[in-house]
Amino acid sequence: MKVAVLGAAGGIGQALALLLKTTLPAGSALSLYDIAPVTPGVAADLSHIPTGVSVVGFGGEDPTAALEGADIVLISAGVARKPGMDRADLFNVNAGIVKNLIEKVAATCPTACIGIITNPVNTTVPIAAEVLKKAGVYDKKKLFGITTLDVIRGETFISEAKGIDLADIKVPVIGGHSGVTILPLLSQVVGASFTDEEVEKMTHRIQNAGTEVVEAKAGGGSATLSMGQAACRFALSLVDALSGKADVIEYTYVDGGSEHAQFFAQPVLLGKNGVEKVLPYGELSAFEQNAMDKMLDTLKGDIKLGVEFVK
Ligand code: NAI
Repeated sequence: MKVAVLGAAGGIGQALALLLKTTLPAGSALSLYDIAPVTPGVAADLSHIPTGVSVVGFGGEDPTAALEGADIVLISAGVARKPGMDRADLFNVNAGIVKNLIEKVAATCPTACIGIITNPVNTTVPIAAEVLKKAGVYDKKKLFGITTLDVIRGETFISEAKGIDLADIKVPVIGGHSGVTILPLLSQVVGASFTDEEVEKMTHRIQNAGTEVVEAKAGGGSATLSMGQAACRFALSLVDALSGKADVIEYTYVDGGSEHAQFFAQPVLLGKNGVEKVLPYGELSAFEQNAMDKMLDTLKGDIKLGVEFVK
């Protein structure tokens, strides 16, 4: 299995590359690309870690060499938030970066599974879909917005608050990946009960956890280490599923599985060809249904922005 990381010299990219180098199955290949000239050096650095994963790095303007033969492409290239910004503020820069990179993916490894980390994910994933459609290679089973960070944040915060063993906790998070579009389904967390006030506070904390990090880093960037871990978890699940492992399920932002919006994050059964089946997310509490009703216009607006950007 060959995994390419685009944006590999960045905060997320380096953390993700380190985790992949140490956790991908032996025999896998890791291919790193970033416009930053340091990228071959990042690969050289990682290559001294004794694992069975080979690693090469490419800098410069053209990602083609990094993409050749890739089975999975993870994209974290772009700019990150500073205090006072929301994810939509990143659109002007990151939309063009994702569009250009996906054009190269379409030309070089059109059958690869693509995981998009670059924000605003609600919009960059529709951009990727439109670019792939234009190139005539779109397979909606192989395009994912990586929302795993919302899930791991939910797991951590609820485990801490309710004393649930991290090995047992599962926190469904559906919708999108910014502000109110992030909808954790606390009513479905097994072994935890919440008062109405706790539901409101915990939902707000999970929705705003990214801002918590942006403010704590005080201008030094957004979540990179936890995001590296989240993306690694998602990528390893994808590797497992592509390799034939059964019953691999992750929450991820995909095309076509929802009655609510063209792109929607919900549980997805992964298989040898990417999305095997988009699964139902179950019953919502009254609080969750209300939150869903209120956020759908925002999510649909984010999606429309991406589609129109490419058209
Ligand atoms: P960073 O600034 O540390 O790294 C970004 C990297 O992208 C830099 O190394 C830069 O040289 C590279 N880059 C820029 N343009 C490029 C291009 N055209 N081709 C290749 N590489 C290019 O930023 P960080 O913290 O790694 O964040 C990256 C993105 O991930 C941001 O958009 C951020 O908002 C997003 N993010 C997504 C999360 C999620 O849950 N999906 C969570 C946290 C951040």
